[in-house]
Amino acid sequence: MNILVITGSPHKKGTSSLLADNFIAGALEAGHEVFRFDTIFQVTQPCLACNYCRKNNHKCIQEDDMELIWDKLIAADMVVFVTPVYYFGMSAQLKKVIDRFFAINDILRSKPKKAVLLATCGDNEAWAMEPLVAHYKAICKYLHWEDAGQVLAIGVYDRAAIEATQYPEQARTLGKHIH
Ligand SMILES: Cc1cc2nc3c(=O)[nH]c(=O)nc-3n(C[C@H](O)[C@H](O)[C@H](O)COP(=O)(O)O)c2cc1C
Repeated sequence: MNILVITGSPHKKGTSSLLADNFIAGALEAGHEVFRFDTIFQVTQPCLACNYCRKNNHKCIQEDDMELIWDKLIAADMVVFVTPVYYFGMSAQLKKVIDRFFAINDILRSKPKKAVLLATCGDNEAWAMEPLVAHYKAICKYLHWEDAGQVLAIGVYDRAAIEATQYPEQARTLGKHIH
C-alpha cells in the first residue's frame, strides 16, 4: 500500500510526531511504502480561492511545496492525518494543506482511498477530540474515503506525558495492521 502521512505540528519532537513515527514504523514493518510530509519543514500557502484550478485542469496557480505531494496524494492508497488539537480542531498547518486539496477534488473523489487520524491533545476529557473527529469524518465522507482507524491521545500535553502512555504503541499496532 502507498501511504502518504501529513503531519501538522510545529514540534519536530512533539506528541503527534511520536504517533506518526510509530505508525510509520509499524507500516514499514508490514511492508508498506510511506511518504511523510511534515508541514513544519515545507512552505505551503493557504488556498487563494482564485478558482484557477477549475479552469486549468486541476493545476494550482501557487507553486510551493505542495508540488512535492500532488502526485503522491493522487496515487496514495491511504492518507494519514496527524495533528495536535488546536482550539478543538486540527492545526492550521494541516488545515491549509487539506484546503489545497480543493484543486484536485474531483480526482480525489473518484479514487477510493483509506484514511487514518492520529491526534493528540492536552485535555484529559474525550469530548475535547469530538469536533476534530467530526471534521475528519466529514472530510472522509466528502472524499469517499474510508476511515481505517484513529488514535486519539488525550491528556498528553507534552512528549513526556505521551511517552508514559500506550498511545505510541497503539499507533504502531495500527500501522502494522492496516490493509
Ligand atoms: C495554539 C494551541 C491550541 C491548543 N488547543 C488545545 C485544545 O483546544 N484542546 C486541548 O486539549 N489541547 C490544546 N492544545 C494543546 C496541544 O493539543 C497539546 O499540547 C499537544 O500535545 C501538542 O502536540 P504536538 O506536541 O504534536 O505539537 C493547544 C496547544 C496550542 C499550542
